[in-house]
Amino acid sequence: MGKDVIIACDFSSAKETMDFLDRFGDLKPYVKIGMELFYAEGPQIVRTLKARGHKVFLDLKLHDIPNTVGKAMSVLNGLGVDMCNVHAAGASEMMQAAAKAFAGSDTLVIAVTQLTSTSEAQLHDELLISSCMEETVRSYALNARNAGLDGVVCSPLEAAAVHETCGKDFLTVTPGVRLAGDSKGDQKRVTTPAIARELGSDYIVVGRSITGAGDPLQAYRKCMEEFIDR
Ligand code: C5P
Repeated sequence: MGKDVIIACDFSSAKETMDFLDRFGDLKPYVKIGMELFYAEGPQIVRTLKARGHKVFLDLKLHDIPNTVGKAMSVLNGLGVDMCNVHAAGASEMMQAAAKAFAGSDTLVIAVTQLTSTSEAQLHDELLISSCMEETVRSYALNARNAGLDGVVCSPLEAAAVHETCGKDFLTVTPGVRLAGDSKGDQKRVTTPAIARELGSDYIVVGRSITGAGDPLQAYRKCMEEFIDR
């Protein structure tokens, strides 16, 4: 299982994305396509990035009834992405349908536990979940593992708890990562790449600390150095 830095390409067009990735020359970073880019450009953006040699995490966070998610995931299976995801809040039957749609494929299918923009207070006061964040994430992760998924999206702050509960081979893919000194923006549960590594994250997802940097290539290299090469 390779540790890697995944760049969240939260752009609104293929052109903006390609102009950004052109700055990386022969380096072909692992990229994440989220709702903004996918809804703007459709499945072709996945094919284009794959043809350019990038690994692709398609972050569409499906959350619907099991039948709908299963059928939608079967469509996504045809795209040949390296990773894609659903919301664990959709519950076990929905996650099983997602796993079944990718049976026999190499695509990693993971589940979002709690968004890294959700705070402990929001968990209790708005979502009315009485367990603490760590217990909620552990429990959602266990449901995901038992449903046959490969891992979860969580904060680096919960990576160790997830590995303890679900085993070291169960993947933790962790957004909520900032280079030291960068603004948190809307994220609440954040760490640096170096701390994410210490906490046992398998993949870090980094958006604005790279895409919003004056020199994105340098920021990416710094993330790689802190997370992998030290
Ligand atoms: O810019 P930033 O580094 O905060 O971007 C984080 C990316 O990870 C965004 O694309 C966001 O949609 C995604 N993400 C997240 N929290 C999750 C799941 C995905 O921030 N739980």
